[in-house]
Amino acid sequence: MKLKGIAAVFFSPTGNTRKAVVEIADVIAHREGIAVREIDFTLPRAREEVRKFEAGELVIFGTPVYAGRIPNKILPAVQTLFEGNGALAVPVVTFGNRSFDNALIELRIELEQHGFHTVAGAAFVAEHVFSNKLAAGRPDEKDLELIRRFAGDVAEKIKGLEEGPLDGMAEIPAPAAVKGIEPVPAYYRPLQEDGSPANFLKAKPKTSDSCNDCGICARVCPMGSISPEDYRTVTGICIKCQACVKSCPVHAKFFDDPVMLSHTRMLEQHYERPAENKVFL
Ligand SMILES: Cc1cc2nc3c(=O)[nH]c(=O)nc-3n(C[C@H](O)[C@H](O)[C@H](O)COP(=O)(O)O)c2cc1C
Repeated sequence: MKLKGIAAVFFSPTGNTRKAVVEIADVIAHREGIAVREIDFTLPRAREEVRKFEAGELVIFGTPVYAGRIPNKILPAVQTLFEGNGALAVPVVTFGNRSFDNALIELRIELEQHGFHTVAGAAFVAEHVFSNKLAAGRPDEKDLELIRRFAGDVAEKIKGLEEGPLDGMAEIPAPAAVKGIEPVPAYYRPLQEDGSPANFLKAKPKTSDSCNDCGICARVCPMGSISPEDYRTVTGICIKCQACVKSCPVHAKFFDDPVMLSHTRMLEQHYERPAENKVFL
């Protein structure tokens, strides 16, 4: 089957997911001699319109793993803003060295339910936004090599799909056989160092005196929760994505919630080994 378009669609507060998704889309687009349409739905204003795709297009669709699943505050966007109309899709998740648990299968299910035919899927290891002791610097050059190889395999698989009347194909491919439990179980429950539950839902970033009011933090917050009048005030929900922390040029944003820090230490103690990328074709 010949592709007539390719899109890189992602939610990516700190850029890991974007890196993986765009790399895959670029490799396939290059082979096919077509351009990539980039749809970044990280910021609130990018979640105001419905995006429609069509048969013959391929969508590489990525989110990070939060608590073993698609970030819960972003799930409604995934469920309402994207209409496949017979387009092919590749669900992709990035995870911070612990586990992707059921995020990939959840994303595959959502895409299939919204008019996409999934042909492959992948979970890539990326530095955990909570700690640079967990998969530091990943995806690195070795990971990118594997990501490019995966992209090539996806392109070959699509080329091998026979053309026909069913959304451009002779037969609809079976949903990508990704790892995960169906129906998707509850979110992973974070633990503290002593093994007790870690509830840090209410934690918010704090601001040190080095803040010079540049306003970058407010512009990058995926929830639009940092007040544009006072960058030290969090007015809405915080998903702990670390976009404000990582984008601050003077390192003025930080979290000091003791339960959240205890969870991070628990992760560092138990998940320091390099986790493996997983691809499903
Ligand atoms: C609230 C939250 C929960 C997370 N939960 C998990 C998890 O369950 N398993 C895991 O391995 N990584 C987890 N991570 C790490 C992210 O999945 C990882 O750093 C990801 O690459 C971030 O993507 P981004 O750079 O596109 O924002 C979590 C990160 C956050 C902010």
